[in-house]
Amino acid sequence: MKKHGVFICIEGLDASGKTTQSKLLVKNLRKRGFNAVYTTEPSKGQVGRLIRRHVLYGKNRSSAVLEALLFAADRISHIENEVKPLLDEGKIVVSDRYLYSSLAYQGATGLELKWIEEINRWAKKPDLAIYIDIPPEIVLRRLKRKKSVMENLKNQKNVREIYLKLVKTGVLKLVEGNKPKKAVAKEILNMVTNLLSGPGI
Ligand code: TMP
Repeated sequence: MKKHGVFICIEGLDASGKTTQSKLLVKNLRKRGFNAVYTTEPSKGQVGRLIRRHVLYGKNRSSAVLEALLFAADRISHIENEVKPLLDEGKIVVSDRYLYSSLAYQGATGLELKWIEEINRWAKKPDLAIYIDIPPEIVLRRLKRKKSVMENLKNQKNVREIYLKLVKTGVLKLVEGNKPKKAVAKEILNMVTNLLSGPGI
């Protein structure tokens, strides 16, 4: 196992399968003898719980700026309380959503990406950031559960556009998500094992 751990995040639209895939990746890595741990944003901490209760499923939508600041605050707590300690133990941390969710979702509200980056400048850069791509129309068909404030077609399209820009600039690595779960999992596992066997890790 590597000395400083490895930090991976998985991004995508709601119902793109990223939670299933993040958990499958952890399971597959463990099967191969790696010490991998699943974490998520919004986190399980106080700010994360506040976001889920009042921002995502609250009665009134908060201002875009307030939302962005809350997600950034939750991220600091997630890094300090979960990610960093796990990396220091040499573990592989798989985060279900991270900084790029803020760029895509809060960016889709019209906030400047530069400002979102600035309030997130304490966020550690991951070793690998994967984006599971799926057309927004399929996302909405898949969503049977209660929808959060982020989940309408226009918003999903804007969010996807930003994610795809981040793919173009090489920040995110794209995985085609509209195919069988096992095939997506295999592609993600290949990317990660390549990373683990490569130089610099
Ligand atoms: P999820 O638990 O299904 O992934 O949903 C979390 C929601 O929170 C999802 O609609 C995207 C949103 N979100 C943001 O808008 N910004 C962020 O920085 C994060 C982490 C999540």
